[in-house]
Amino acid sequence: MDHTTQAKQQAAKAALKYVEPGMILGLGTGSTAAELIRLLGEQVAQGFDITGVPSSDQSAQLAQELGIPLSSLQESPVLDLNIDGADEVDPQFNMIKGGGGALLREKILAQSAKRNIFIVDQGKQVHELGAFPLPLEVVPFALESVVIQLQQIDLNPQLRLQNGAPFKTDEGNAILDADIRGFSDYQRLNSRLLAIPGIVETGLFLDYVDVLIVGNLTGAGILEN
Ligand code: A5P
Repeated sequence: MDHTTQAKQQAAKAALKYVEPGMILGLGTGSTAAELIRLLGEQVAQGFDITGVPSSDQSAQLAQELGIPLSSLQESPVLDLNIDGADEVDPQFNMIKGGGGALLREKILAQSAKRNIFIVDQGKQVHELGAFPLPLEVVPFALESVVIQLQQIDLNPQLRLQNGAPFKTDEGNAILDADIRGFSDYQRLNSRLLAIPGIVETGLFLDYVDVLIVGNLTGAGILEN
């Protein structure tokens, strides 16, 4: 197993300690969240009682295979806890998410949770955001128009592809990956992006972290925000 996977597993293991019986738990998306879902599956198999609300069809499928009882956000609109991964996190706990394309549902779950824990390997910690392109979820009708507007503010949007075709989110939208290097006022940038009709959500997660768990080869560091 490679070192990054080991670090992701350590972060997931540390997050498990925050999960209490009876909780309605938001299940993130991505390889780190998948490590947590696997550990939860083991717990559930031993009789641990939790209900998961998945942030993507992919996480729903994995949880289902592992026998984790699932609910939807419609049925359970307030989550006790949400645990998810991230693509980048800076020292102020600003994050980029959406590498897996689930940013919209992920942000909805994060907003619906009483508490949010993010689990990352140490390679995700950065001084400033932007080496990882910022995912933007865009309504297909608006795609070309949004591309032009993003080009006008030098964000160099790239349409995300999957197997040669435009990537489609669980909500049926497209993803544009934008180059935000050089921007440091993330709140302002986020507001500016959300003001463009057709951009449904951005992968900038600002003010969402309650606890950040950073996994390494042998354990995990815990940072409370
Ligand atoms: C999914 O849309 C993302 O927001 C993930 O949380 C993020 O991409 C982290 O993924 P990994 O855990 O696979 O690195």
